[in-house]
Amino acid sequence: MQIEEWKKDMLLTENEYYYLLASLLEAADKVANTASVYEAFLKNIKHSAQKELKLEPLEIVINPNNKKYLVTRKDANELINEISGDILYLDPPYNTRKYDTNYHILETIALYDNPEIKGKTGVRKEETKRSKYCKKQEVELALEDLIKNAKFKYILLSYNDEGIVNLDRIKEIMSKYGTYKRYQKEHKRYKADNKRKYKKNYTIEYIHCLKK
Ligand SMILES: C[S@@+](CC[C@H](N)C(=O)[O-])C[C@H]1O[C@@H](n2cnc3c(N)ncnc32)[C@H](O)[C@@H]1O
Repeated sequence: MQIEEWKKDMLLTENEYYYLLASLLEAADKVANTASVYEAFLKNIKHSAQKELKLEPLEIVINPNNKKYLVTRKDANELINEISGDILYLDPPYNTRKYDTNYHILETIALYDNPEIKGKTGVRKEETKRSKYCKKQEVELALEDLIKNAKFKYILLSYNDEGIVNLDRIKEIMSKYGTYKRYQKEHKRYKADNKRKYKKNYTIEYIHCLKK
């Protein structure tokens, strides 16, 4: 990949490298012949996938107040012991599917590591750990640990009605640590394909709120 060559030849600063990589990821996703996630590819080339891959400049958000921001890939349950603030917004996985399988092509573009692959769709062969938030036996403990250890005034948790933790259980867990309230909104359901039968056309998206 040209971007990697430029990096190797030291023609890019670190920021320039990641800027180009982010632009490539966005561009690749726009022309992907999938129904959104990469676990399966479509049999026919859909309209958007017939377009040329085009790198576009991404908007740069200027930091107006010169505040410091932290971007990290740390495990949320570790990170929670190192941060504090006013509002904590949580948007964990809802279901048991692994993110690196769902998005394996993007993962490989980002890592550019020429991995061993397997299966029809060429997912990365190397097994990675499934998040606790994707495991039915572990998710409730992980969530409670996160809420308990959060040094934030307000916690907002986004989850839907098809998530692996049920509504009442989330309420029960959060209520132990403060005043709980919940908001909800119907949302058009994501459908992986039109052949599969879905029970309903919408999901209910919840924002679970806690004032600690
Ligand atoms: C529903 S997505 C959030 C999407 C995000 N709000 C966005 O708009 O891009 C859940 C995210 O949680 C990450 N994740 C899963 N387990 C995690 C953990 N234990 N600690 C931190 N992040 C985790 C996944 O990799 C995924 O990016």
